[in-house]
Amino acid sequence: ESAEKEGYQHFMIKEINEQPKGVSETLMRRLDKEDNIVLDGIKLTKEDLEHINKIYIVACGTAYHAGLVGRYAIEKLARIPVEVDVASEFRYRDPFVDENTLFIAVSQSGETLDTLAALREAKRKGARILSIVNVVGSSVARESHDVFYTWAGPEIAVASTKAYTTQLIAMYLIALHMAKTADSISNEEYKKVIQELKTLPEKVKGILGDIDKIQHLGDAQFSNESVFFMGRGLDVNVAHEGSLKLKEISYINSFAIAAGELKHGTIALIEKGTLVMALATQDHLYDKMLSNIQEVRARGAYVVAVAKEGNKEVEKTADVVLYIPNTMDELTPVLSIIPLQLFAYFIAVARGCDVDKPKNLAKSVTVE
Ligand code: G6P
Repeated sequence: ESAEKEGYQHFMIKEINEQPKGVSETLMRRLDKEDNIVLDGIKLTKEDLEHINKIYIVACGTAYHAGLVGRYAIEKLARIPVEVDVASEFRYRDPFVDENTLFIAVSQSGETLDTLAALREAKRKGARILSIVNVVGSSVARESHDVFYTWAGPEIAVASTKAYTTQLIAMYLIALHMAKTADSISNEEYKKVIQELKTLPEKVKGILGDIDKIQHLGDAQFSNESVFFMGRGLDVNVAHEGSLKLKEISYINSFAIAAGELKHGTIALIEKGTLVMALATQDHLYDKMLSNIQEVRARGAYVVAVAKEGNKEVEKTADVVLYIPNTMDELTPVLSIIPLQLFAYFIAVARGCDVDKPKNLAKSVTVE
């Protein structure tokens, strides 16, 4: 096992560090020389898209969080309505599915029972099934009409990291491909997004090469008993994933909220020293987010902000700022999740937790 870890202390940190490669492979294998997206033979013609009037993205755990970003990307770029649901809910709520529905299943293992059952239910009702899967030949892959494989490589640690970032890339590529096919994006805009996607592996590498601040923060915060994550827009989706990482491996009671919901409940729990992880990467929502940070600070919270490089202003309000390299608002999740994965990892190590095999959790849940 130690040979497989290639010198890393845990699989999780090894896999976190494999993200530049996973992101790059998942992306570059789908681009031809002219930067056209080649979706592994997945047929989504203009005519097909005209028939699709609804998309469901269904998954569990981390894959569900990737689906939340997927909804944003597809709705924004391809202008098709998308609903995202956790598989265990979807399968029992008699959803509106018919021949005009595209059902997108997201699963690292391709063996999660609830996801598979939801897929079968949608297929029975006539939906077209596209899956985003990491394990080649898995059950979800076999039962889908089309499969988009993520190129994360085997993921061993229970807490999913590289599967998530590669699922995000899959979502962006599918959304962009749909947008281009449906003519809902200009050539110029398309090229701009592709160019920006190509810069992400290096940017992820940049974050991974400068981890002292995050490690220090992880060591300093390890005895916190509850942590709140908040954000707006795409940031709230990343907040959910960051919070899941922390609770999975460190057993800290953490949860994530849309920052606009603070005053509808959660602010009652903020007191002196409460740790709040505030994501503030979305330019168009920045002012609103800043006032949410001020609200929790005024009640004594210790705020760690995640912001884009160059944003010096946030330093005046937050206690600590973790910077991510600049990118388009739409693509920030691929970068902003990295400091949160590392933060969860360092806290769990400092607390002496079994990082790769957290108690009560399994890598793949094949029972209901
Ligand atoms: C388990 C794992 C999670 C994972 C979820 C969905 O709970 O511990 O890391 O996100 O299952 O798994 P899947 O293989 O379908 O992505």
